[in-house]
Amino acid sequence: MSVFIKIKDQQLGPYSYNELKKLVTEGSFDQDDLVFSEASNEWVRAGHLEELRKLFPGPVSTPSERMVYAIGGGKGGVGKTVLTASIGIGLAALGYRVVMVDADLGGANLHTCMGILEPQYTFYHFYSLQKESLSDILLDTPIENLKLISGACGTLGLANPRYSQKLRFINELRKIDADFILLDLGAGSSYNVIDFFLAADHGLAVTTPEPMAIQETFNFLKIALMRKLTREFKDDPDAINRLEQEVFADSGRMSQSVGAALQKLAGEDPAAAKRIQGILDGFTPSLILNMVHSEDEVKEGVALHTAVEELLAMKMNFLGYVEHDESVRRAVKELRPFVVDDPTSRAAKNLAKLITVGLLKKTGWAGFKEKRRVLRQVKQQNKEYPSQQIRESETICSVQCFYWGDCEYQNGGYPCPVRHLDPIFKS
Ligand SMILES: Nc1ncnc2c1ncn2[C@@H]1O[C@H](COP(=O)(O)OP(=O)(O)O)[C@@H](O)[C@H]1O
Ligand SMILES: [Mg+2]
Repeated sequence: MSVFIKIKDQQLGPYSYNELKKLVTEGSFDQDDLVFSEASNEWVRAGHLEELRKLFPGPVSTPSERMVYAIGGGKGGVGKTVLTASIGIGLAALGYRVVMVDADLGGANLHTCMGILEPQYTFYHFYSLQKESLSDILLDTPIENLKLISGACGTLGLANPRYSQKLRFINELRKIDADFILLDLGAGSSYNVIDFFLAADHGLAVTTPEPMAIQETFNFLKIALMRKLTREFKDDPDAINRLEQEVFADSGRMSQSVGAALQKLAGEDPAAAKRIQGILDGFTPSLILNMVHSEDEVKEGVALHTAVEELLAMKMNFLGYVEHDESVRRAVKELRPFVVDDPTSRAAKNLAKLITVGLLKKTGWAGFKEKRRVLRQVKQQNKEYPSQQIRESETICSVQCFYWGDCEYQNGGYPCPVRHLDPIFKS
């Protein structure tokens, strides 16, 4: 055999199998690089070609077809947005085509996190039908392979879309030609957030190890599960009502586990119980622990994981954790995603592992190699990535404000966080 390959948009070859093997050993050719497939007459990832698979150690990445990931979790400020941006960059660095979507309808700020201060298009252009398809509102980012759909900053009226509108949106998302679509959700457990979490193919819940955040994440997952069951049992609401009464007999607090209540229901209505079990088996959100200070704190994540499995009777994947790291805060101030701002930081290393081992399920040597590849690729972007000076931004409400969209002041609260900090900025 002899094949043409593409590395960084450069066409090379033709190479024989043994020549390719040499390139793999040198580290200059990988499973995610492109090969021209004679059979299908198109460029495909090397790892996806049966005859080349043996070249690569460990499991080969095959991003599943269902690939809309929603990043949620009950609490605000736990790092959903900064993680979304850096996960997007890490996946793009591996050659995947990634689209990040700001689905925080109340306080869109993913674009700010990427250093894009005034997005040319936002959600608003899609909802108001000024743009027909989501592909028309895709924004380029400073990173190759990474695009962004910006949230509609402060546009009232979008904050409460109907369920059907949310579904239409997710279905439109699936039409975008990309390997990964990442939805950055807003805080809280309102149906606006939960419905996106459920409509996506994979839900990633982000929490910090603080008790309040752990509690809110548990609640978030509990509400998500009940919402899912209620929606799927529209034809038989009685079964879900009975289950709910068993679980939450005491004014909304859990009085027994979902598993125990389900067992009881199985005695009364075995068909419904079996159907519920099927839904439980198919609902497997993942957990990410952020701002971890110590090994001990990782145990908080494990405890939450156990509580969800035991009390809510659903399976959960623990994807990994990111340490608390001042470099993240520094990067946010420069409006740069942390993984590109300092690829040598602990947080960047944690994140690279989370992507390769947690998300892409690469284990052993392959996982280690891919992790290094993420960091190596991102390092190359470190210098070119624009950095912004937010200190010079006006202290009046503006999309240029660092707190834009995520600010109590804008909603009539007090004080304006930027005005409040003005003396510090001017010194
Ligand atoms: N691993 C971390 N280490 C230190 N600070 C972090 C970390 N992750 C997030 N932060 C801080 O938390 C703030 C809130 O993060 P953000 O992504 O906006 O939260 P959310 O989207 O969940 O509301 C960020 O501005 C950043 O300063
Ligand atoms: Mg956010």
